[in-house]
Amino acid sequence: MSDDSRPSPAPARTAAVIPAAGRGVRLGPGAPKALRTLNGTPMLIHAVRALAASRAVSLVVVVAPPDGAGEVKSLLDAHALPDRTDFVVVPGGDSRQESVRLGLDALPPEYDIVLVHDAARPLVPVDTVDGVIEAVREGAPAVVPALPLADTVKEVGPAAPGEPEPVVATPVRARLRAVQTPQGFDRATLVRAHETVTEDVTDDASMVEQLGLTVVVVPGHEEAFKVTRPLDLVLAEAVLARRRLNDGF
Ligand code: CTP
Ligand code: MG
Repeated sequence: MSDDSRPSPAPARTAAVIPAAGRGVRLGPGAPKALRTLNGTPMLIHAVRALAASRAVSLVVVVAPPDGAGEVKSLLDAHALPDRTDFVVVPGGDSRQESVRLGLDALPPEYDIVLVHDAARPLVPVDTVDGVIEAVREGAPAVVPALPLADTVKEVGPAAPGEPEPVVATPVRARLRAVQTPQGFDRATLVRAHETVTEDVTDDASMVEQLGLTVVVVPGHEEAFKVTRPLDLVLAEAVLARRRLNDGF
């Protein structure tokens, strides 16, 4: 047993930054992706509820489309969200990286742990969120939820004009993981990564890797998939329908 007379340190406070400023080009024409609805509710609201479902998350920073911060604030006001969670809305930037940085800039000082979660992953289960937070609390500077791949992955080279792309390598599938969000970070580490890495990246953890720190993997979930192409909307609504059925029993 530890010395009971010593005051225990204040528990680390956790905030979530939700980049939602993308257009959703691959989804096709329409509203910005995060504002498109799933079963009548904007994807962004599903994503905010998914993160706010974790009792550890006490602040959600939503990074809105650059001209859509007002609309996003109204949406958050109009939908029921847990009382224990605070919300901040900031306008985003031209790249996901820039949007995340703008979200980090809006974080009050008292938050030590930051989750970064794509608005485009509206159905992530709370157990996945809590698993990421737990691993950061246990000391990992960066944590990613991930799943093994179903498909074999090939690396291709440039195609000669009019020719098909040549395969140049086949990484061993068993060693590959498909990485999801929320990704979890020691806040100071993530801020330093965003200050240090200037080249384009597709996730936040890779910036921490570039600092030479170890990023660890926890189990992801198939329902944490990213809504990217039109078929993903069909899948997301099917998942919601299945949840509704299961809740009914
Ligand atoms: N994102 C962002 N700011 C940007 C670009 C993307 O906040 N300038 C966000 C998206 O809103 C999304 C997440 O980053 O929640 C993951 O990006 P992605 O799935 O690629 O979404 P989009 O960039 O909107 O889609 P697309 O690449 O098809 O245009
Ligand atoms: Mg994109």
